[in-house]
Amino acid sequence: MGRLPDVDDAYNLSSPDAVKDLYRAWAQSYDTGFGEAQGYQLPFEVAKAYVAAGGAGPVLDVGAGTGLVGGALQHLNVGPVDGIDLSEEMLAIAAAKGCYRDLDARDITQTIDLPGAPYQGIVSAGTFTLGHVGPDALQNLIPLAERGAVFVISVNVAHFDSAGFAAAFSGFGGAISDLQMRDVRIYDDRADAAHRNDMARLVTFRCV
Ligand SMILES: C[S@@+](CC[C@H](N)C(=O)[O-])C[C@H]1O[C@@H](n2cnc3c(N)ncnc32)[C@H](O)[C@@H]1O
Repeated sequence: MGRLPDVDDAYNLSSPDAVKDLYRAWAQSYDTGFGEAQGYQLPFEVAKAYVAAGGAGPVLDVGAGTGLVGGALQHLNVGPVDGIDLSEEMLAIAAAKGCYRDLDARDITQTIDLPGAPYQGIVSAGTFTLGHVGPDALQNLIPLAERGAVFVISVNVAHFDSAGFAAAFSGFGGAISDLQMRDVRIYDDRADAAHRNDMARLVTFRCV
């Protein structure tokens, strides 16, 4: 790729290897060239929603990337925070920020074993989105959570509808409680016109 990656490249990924290749190329420029330049505010929305739902540490950040959610949680005095992600290069940027206790490379579409589990909460921003992870991965996260743990998972609204997230959440039945959903903007007005009003659904619930 002769230019830096952007959100359209991310939405069009179709395999874990393609995800790894894209984020290998994007890691160094992600925070400034994407996060700041596009007014990417979803990580802060997820962190605020976690606190509002009564979430506390230790908490697992799923698809932690360069650590924007971990930074926001630290700012809100929530910790310790562990993170997992498919991309070693994105995790290296997160590690340098010093706001995570542990960072591990994991594919959340597979069964996950983590030494820090079970967690008091699980958060995720920007990972359940077009070209990335579908609802099937949710079942791999539930075993990582303590009873009563708070989840705040962002799902791109277009992806929510096309990938069947509503059925996945209702399929958990009595295994989760206090299910709530609220839509927020992913970006602020700095974003390119094509994505300025893209929305994410913040799905909040507790493990029973
Ligand atoms: C848009 S970035 C979001 C990163 C960070 N949460 C944020 O909001 O800035 C999506 C992240 O999901 C990760 N990802 C995609 N598929 C994954 C998978 N199957 N398992 C774990 N992480 C995955 C990517 O490597 C990438 O870091």
